[in-house]
Amino acid sequence: MQSSNPLSWRWTAYLCLLSVLFSLFTPAVMVKENDFKKCHQSGFCKRNRALADHAISQGTSWQAPYTIAHDQVSLKHGQLEATILKTIDQQGTTVNLPITVSFLLSGTARVTVDEEKRQAKSIELRNGSGARKERYNEAEKWAIVGGLTLDKDAKISHQDKKGITIKYGPNLEFEAEIKYEPFAIDFKRDGTSHIKFNDRGLMNMEHWRPKVDKVEPEKEGEEEKKEGEEEQKQEPKEVPPHLDESTWWDETFGGNTDSKPRGPESVALDISFHGYDHVYGIPEHAGPLSLKETRGGEGNYEEPYRLYNADVFEYILDSPMTLYGAIPFMQAQRKDSTVGVFWLNSAETWVDITKAKESKNPLALGIATKTSTHTHWISESGLMDVFVFLGPTPQDISKKYAELTGTTAMPPESALGYHQCRWNYVSDDDVKEVDRKMDKFKIPYDVIWLDIEYTDEKKYFTWDPNMFKDPISMGKQLDEHGRKLVIIIDPHIKNTGSYPVIDEMKSKGLAVKNKDGKDFDGWCWPGSSMWIDAFSPAAIKWWCSLFKYDAFKGTLENTYIWNDMNEPSVFNGPEVTMPKDNLHHGGWEHRDVHNINGMTFHNATYEALLTRKTGELRRPFVLTRSFFAGSQRLGAMWTGDNQASWEHLGAAVPMILAQGIAGFPFSGADVGGFFGNPELELQTRWFQAGAFYPFFRGHAHIDARRREPYMAAEPYRSIITAALRLRYSLMPSWYTAFFHANRDGSPIIRPMYWTHPGEESGFAVDDQFFVGSTGLLVKPVVEKDKDTADVYIPDDENYYDYFTYHKLPTSKGKTASVPAPIETIPVLMRGGHIFPRRDVPRRSTQLMKYDDFTLVVVLGKNGKAEGDLYVDDGDSFDYQKGQYIHRLFKLKDKLLTSTAASTHEGKSLSDGDWMKRFYNVSFDKVIIVGAPASWANKIEVTVKSESKERPVNLEYHKAEGAKAAYVVLSRLGVRVGADWEVNFA
Ligand code: NOJ
Repeated sequence: MQSSNPLSWRWTAYLCLLSVLFSLFTPAVMVKENDFKKCHQSGFCKRNRALADHAISQGTSWQAPYTIAHDQVSLKHGQLEATILKTIDQQGTTVNLPITVSFLLSGTARVTVDEEKRQAKSIELRNGSGARKERYNEAEKWAIVGGLTLDKDAKISHQDKKGITIKYGPNLEFEAEIKYEPFAIDFKRDGTSHIKFNDRGLMNMEHWRPKVDKVEPEKEGEEEKKEGEEEQKQEPKEVPPHLDESTWWDETFGGNTDSKPRGPESVALDISFHGYDHVYGIPEHAGPLSLKETRGGEGNYEEPYRLYNADVFEYILDSPMTLYGAIPFMQAQRKDSTVGVFWLNSAETWVDITKAKESKNPLALGIATKTSTHTHWISESGLMDVFVFLGPTPQDISKKYAELTGTTAMPPESALGYHQCRWNYVSDDDVKEVDRKMDKFKIPYDVIWLDIEYTDEKKYFTWDPNMFKDPISMGKQLDEHGRKLVIIIDPHIKNTGSYPVIDEMKSKGLAVKNKDGKDFDGWCWPGSSMWIDAFSPAAIKWWCSLFKYDAFKGTLENTYIWNDMNEPSVFNGPEVTMPKDNLHHGGWEHRDVHNINGMTFHNATYEALLTRKTGELRRPFVLTRSFFAGSQRLGAMWTGDNQASWEHLGAAVPMILAQGIAGFPFSGADVGGFFGNPELELQTRWFQAGAFYPFFRGHAHIDARRREPYMAAEPYRSIITAALRLRYSLMPSWYTAFFHANRDGSPIIRPMYWTHPGEESGFAVDDQFFVGSTGLLVKPVVEKDKDTADVYIPDDENYYDYFTYHKLPTSKGKTASVPAPIETIPVLMRGGHIFPRRDVPRRSTQLMKYDDFTLVVVLGKNGKAEGDLYVDDGDSFDYQKGQYIHRLFKLKDKLLTSTAASTHEGKSLSDGDWMKRFYNVSFDKVIIVGAPASWANKIEVTVKSESKERPVNLEYHKAEGAKAAYVVLSRLGVRVGADWEVNFA
């Protein structure tokens, strides 16, 4: 046992740390797949998969042992209460599982199942454990921030002894048909089934039971038995794998034993999406956006998708293996219909996916078949708590999910700029030098980052006294050009003498505890460490105190934070994380809360940045590696330790798209690749792709060669610089996309199925995307030596090349070949959109704050276009008081107009510092792509604004070859905040 011999334990831990460090310095080694569990190595996953196999092998004779007592069902104020009885033996003994089905005003339904015995705490814990007895019921506290108002108009439309049907949702168009025996729910929209619970009978709630020690068979008299008999008796009775008890009470993996004081308590359910052949979501995995089947077959996975946040460095691609974060939210798509489920559970979770062709009509002999997707959700502990969204559009699903878990925080605008990071900038002088060089080469950037080496021996909240002697002057130099510094602060606190942070954490009792209730000690970057228990309100309060400017000397208003290793990563722990029987605030076992752990730390840091100084109300920026549903409210995430390879470049976009549709769109991947050294072509292509990631950061491993953009030899340096400038020029469009994400949970970069849910040929496309609602369609080049790109075209609109205005010969559902030599990013403009940009490149977003705007209008086939612009001070919370401008642009009937898109709730537009400073910022230029030939003879148009009329020059450029006709209006001089119109009649 580790704890029985501290010396050998420390030694093992040390060796373990060394081996981790060694592997970090050994480039191009793959993640040790065997360090992480497969389903068959996880007792509860294995049992539930076996149950699925067993149920399926029984065919129609299989019946799940769950029924609802029909005489105890009630519906009151939008909530149905009942008890599910689980029959647990041949004698018909049952256990009570209280179920609540809540019909929410938003049209979302929620099904929650608990276990009476555990709820009442009438269970016995083993091994003298001090853990809580209930099923974990606080995931909601962390994940949900709204949307729980009940729909009191939900009503019973049918009820008899066999079941009950509730009508709910907008115009009562949704139905939940609850069947009592066996328990099942059929969620319908407009009278047809969309989502079914327990349709395949895989529901399983492992009820509490006392451990019964097996009595050894009597040995006496054995010799008297006949040989044959003896053999028969000795043969152990074969236990079906789904009833296998061998991992009920403890479980060992990789030399670590998990004591299970509450015994088995997994919770599982099959959820079928009727007639849906694509499912998306449940990040984080490195695989395609449209999730694969997981039970074998050509091209499929053999393993379920796993959600168990882990430090899987150098992860393998195209795999259902778990990564750093988990969002158990899935959308399902079929032509013109989207539905979804959110499995609110923070324990280790596995999701099996299979698809089945079903004949629409039994007489059609398989001709008119449709595919249904069957999913099987399996969690180790906690409640069964599932939200059901019936759509019908992807926009509805994203919005309803965001109502529950919150939307992307409005970030400081600088966070949308380019972030320059590496492990590590070695000194404050190094940082200053990089900053100067970026300026020298006229490369825009907003933020420079410091990894763990800036600290004094990995003690967070300190600076290396030799290398970072003067952090204040470093911060000030950055501030001169509106730039920011991000420094890393991890959750492991070095367990060492003369370090006030650890002393305080210990003395205040704020560390995560081991199963015996003592402060848990494990290994991470600093060596022996302890972990802040950010589930505890007292720990959050203490954490906030550490970030006060006068406590954390050397930090300034332009210092932001990076939270890494918060899965948490524990080098000598099981699967590089914490033992599951560790204890958190409130007595919850780590097993119950594991997937929320990272979010609680992110939350504590977010709170800390909000409270650095009384009265300072500025938006925090905190990057996290680990996340859960709701993390979007707290900052950005990145996809962890990727590699400098073309394959990893290709893997990034589907991963970022998955983040977007799972409600956490502020995401990016390490540009250039973390491990290894990218060749220049790869690095350049990565910058071009990164310029279209919502979170855009270059990062490199400590062992990788320096690769700041100015280091690249020509022509790559200029090409990378152009990509960065493109990002900065489109910043108003990016900021507007973030605004939309903040308002309604929409993805910032959007996959084809999300924008075109009626176009089946695009449902599996995941290597291109639209940027917000700009109509910009981007397909990053992710292969070597390419000079064209095939862009999938999802509709019959006009598509133009962003740079050349060439009109592409396109048709719906086909691909268009776009030139993509190394200096070009395939970016198309879709007809019908108007998007804003700023055309003068500067060093940082802050320096562009009061620059004038350009509007690009791309005419649709119907001669119309529409778009918007959102602006605010990019830094404070004044936008919540109405200090923002949101304009709606329309071109129709030869009239281009700018009108207020939203009503301001707060003060008048001229109030407030930012409003005053922004007052004279104008639209300077309008470009109209696809301009009608009838405008060719115009040389002037009239602009009307603020009761004045003025002529403005119109430059008409006629169509030439593939190049579309376009018009440029210059020196428009209309204020951004004012209404205006340009008449082309
Ligand atoms: C692991 C992170 O994923 C990586 O980005 C970082 O550089 C190292 N930790 C060191 O802090």
